[in-house]
Amino acid sequence: MRRIRFGLIGCGLMGREFASALARWCHLTDMPARPELVAICDLFDSSQADLARWYKENFSSLRQVTSDYKDLLANPEVEAVYCAVPHHLHQKFYCATVQAGKHLMGEKPFGIDQPANRAILSTISRHPELLVRCSSEFPFFPCVQRIGDLIEREAFGRIIEVNSGFVHSSDLDPQKPINWKRQIEFNGEYGCMGDLGMHACHVPLRAGWRPRNVRAVLSKIVTERPDGKGGVAPCRTWDNATLLCEAECRGSSGGVFPLTIKTKRIAPGEKNTWYLEIYGTKVSARFSTRNPRRLELLEYRGGEQSWQQFDMGQETAFKTITGGIFEFGFSDAILQMWAAFVVELATGKPPKLFAGCVTPEETTLTHDLFTAALESHRQSRVVTLE
Ligand SMILES: NC(=O)c1ccc[n+]([C@@H]2O[C@H](COP(=O)([O-])OP(=O)(O)OC[C@H]3O[C@@H](n4cnc5c(N)ncnc54)[C@H](O)[C@@H]3O)[C@@H](O)[C@H]2O)c1
Repeated sequence: MRRIRFGLIGCGLMGREFASALARWCHLTDMPARPELVAICDLFDSSQADLARWYKENFSSLRQVTSDYKDLLANPEVEAVYCAVPHHLHQKFYCATVQAGKHLMGEKPFGIDQPANRAILSTISRHPELLVRCSSEFPFFPCVQRIGDLIEREAFGRIIEVNSGFVHSSDLDPQKPINWKRQIEFNGEYGCMGDLGMHACHVPLRAGWRPRNVRAVLSKIVTERPDGKGGVAPCRTWDNATLLCEAECRGSSGGVFPLTIKTKRIAPGEKNTWYLEIYGTKVSARFSTRNPRRLELLEYRGGEQSWQQFDMGQETAFKTITGGIFEFGFSDAILQMWAAFVVELATGKPPKLFAGCVTPEETTLTHDLFTAALESHRQSRVVTLE
């Protein structure tokens, strides 16, 4: 089986999820290729004493451990790179990766702001031989795959309304010390939209639903936090965002409809909830990771209306060894997303519309939306997207 040798830049939360997914590649059946972790890069400073050890102890394939991303990119053995670093480094690291001739899975928001995203896209456009994708795993939940199949078959009829969101409460505690994700210079002005927005936009954008305009309400709820050194630090990123868009449906079902996208870091009662609601004239669908195996569908053929509840198991885009009735979870979605990347790299295309990772062009659409949302909030007005 073909081996794809990966380098990892940024060995933190998502770096470890990636490495762990590779370690259980045997979970997937029918894969055309197998990824192998050969090189890692992080700062490996005194605050991360155990980080390199975790990788070394668990990955015998590892041959390079470096604190300079340029060394990793100069490694001829590395064919593809996963870059999971703070947002202010996206432009520099993604462009350098592509210029070094490596395939790239980047993390969202794919550039700290619109100019950074534009610069990344411009560099990518000069390297059409490389596969470049952006990480976003929630559409790989089986219930969302089923919704994706319905979208592809245009089963919803005319779209009436769509609500999509990613809301959690990890910042509800005002005593939680600040980290880079709450600091504008590392996370960016988008705040919660940069962190969570790609997740909420992935399905609508892949469906071909394009926001024409946006009216946004953004909130800063906790304005300062402990700095972890005995003092306090200002919290200048947006905590919560509600975006109401007029969206255009480009399929044969056509039409313009309200699309609401919510991204919240301070959503009381929500642990880590990704949700999607689609209301159509023929079919409506609801899903939330609060109940990860429950898909709700309403098929309207005239007469009584009735929501049906389906319990889904392992009806995944990429087959696994797990029994069909067993539950699916976050790390399974990560594994599926990596299967999508590797399959596309090995075969040249995803097996179906919703079994592919976010494209660079889709990241640009999110930047257009979030940039317009910042302006909308600033000026308290509706902002039109080009
Ligand atoms: N797909 C998802 O569900 C998801 C979830 C969380 C975060 N993310 C995204 O992943 C990216 C990383 O987030 P995270 O949660 O893993 O952050 P993290 O802080 O846990 O990890 C980032 C790592 O990058 C390292 N780093 C910083 N500067 C570096 C440099 N100059 N060279 C090499 N390494 C450097 C840090 O030391 C850290 O280990 C972000 O873009 C974030 O938005 C995605």
